[in-house]
Amino acid sequence: MDNMKNVTQINFVVIILGVLIGIQFSEANVYTDESILEDARLDTFSIIKKYGYPSEIHRAFADDKYILEMHRIPHSVNNIHQGPRPVVFLMHGLLSSSAEWVMMGPNKGLAYILSEAGYDVWMGNARGNTYSRNHVILGPSSSAFWKFSWHEIGYYDLPAMIDYILKETGVPKIHYIGFSQGTTAFWVMTSTRPEYNDKIIAMQALAPVAFLSNVRSPLVKAIAPFTNSLETIFKILGRNEFLTDGKINDMAGQSYCVEEAITQVLCTNLLFLLCGYNSEQLNSTMVPVIVGHTPAGASTRQIVHFGQIYNSNKFRHFDHGLIGNKMTYGSFKPPTYNLSAISTPIFLHYSDNDWLASPKDVDTLSKEINSVVGKYRVPMAKFNHVDFVFAIDAKKLIYDRMMNIMAQFNT
Ligand SMILES: *[C@@H]1O[C@H](CO)[C@@H](O)[C@H](O)[C@H]1NC(C)=O
Ligand SMILES: *[C@@H]1O[C@H](CO)[C@@H](O)[C@H](O)[C@H]1NC(C)=O
Repeated sequence: MDNMKNVTQINFVVIILGVLIGIQFSEANVYTDESILEDARLDTFSIIKKYGYPSEIHRAFADDKYILEMHRIPHSVNNIHQGPRPVVFLMHGLLSSSAEWVMMGPNKGLAYILSEAGYDVWMGNARGNTYSRNHVILGPSSSAFWKFSWHEIGYYDLPAMIDYILKETGVPKIHYIGFSQGTTAFWVMTSTRPEYNDKIIAMQALAPVAFLSNVRSPLVKAIAPFTNSLETIFKILGRNEFLTDGKINDMAGQSYCVEEAITQVLCTNLLFLLCGYNSEQLNSTMVPVIVGHTPAGASTRQIVHFGQIYNSNKFRHFDHGLIGNKMTYGSFKPPTYNLSAISTPIFLHYSDNDWLASPKDVDTLSKEINSVVGKYRVPMAKFNHVDFVFAIDAKKLIYDRMMNIMAQFNT
């Protein structure tokens, strides 16, 4: 009921906005394929099944008792050869989930492509998102549940999921592919728990994020100066979760984001204001599906921690303030992550028009990590941040090369 009320309120606001800027609504979903609207509503497990792939759900327990749901495509429909398969783990970006890797459909989504190439594909979900909102003791309505940033995702969640996969599959090492925050959490894990370097065959970083001083996103630049007040403001509002999961997503199956609606421009522009613009590589038919699965839930602290990195230009632990730092770390300043402890072979994939993972910051990162083996710039000037997972030509521009690199480790 509460949810319904909120959706109604959002509808109301959107309609008022529409009227104010003088546009009219058409009954747009009439023209949009019912199957696409269905993909906007289905969860990751069901989307995979719908397209005929074997689909599995697994749950891992983090040391601090968060329960993490993973999704798996053990083998493809077409590639069912017997014998051991290389195992790959995919970790999504901020405000996203495992759906990221499958929502664009077969031949487009990286999970399907890897499956067709013979991989056993596992997809993680960070604490707090749509699929990982459980804890042995705490509930997502308590503020204690939300006291984490991507530090905890890297320190607790990734090791828990990786250990589960190693145990379940019996392989000694796995491939790791991270997108955006999925790379940030990896740097945290391998620098704070270096023993995990040896559990990874090679790491592919799509739009790597660690240093942020050259971010171009106007939205990030506008919000960043208020980083320290952000958490306080949210605390006063009683909100520990950033962009509450579910309420905005419900709009997806409705007319605002479908291709024929004039208002689709609102949906896409919000996405691009944050991440960089490239209308050529986004399949506008698929916008309702993206909005149906994003934002998928994150804590305010994840956003605040990124803001701190932007402001300090240092890749370091969460800043609790002078006294809080002294109590937590024994020093007035948060310690920096020791990137020289990373020893897994690292491959960085980046692009010029990425407003979040800018080439300059990727360059800084590549100099800090000793085990960077390759650095690949996407050969398309307008390629943006979300294009790494959603682009029409992602396979041709990135995935094929990435799989060639991975294959060299499989022999
Ligand atoms: C866009 O998505 C639709 C629906 O999945 C698909 O039929 C179409 O071929 C896609 N367009 C491109 C250019 O990939
Ligand atoms: C960082 O890690 C490297 C490699 O493990 C180690 O030699 C060095 O002492 C570490 N530095 C700090 C400050 O802990």
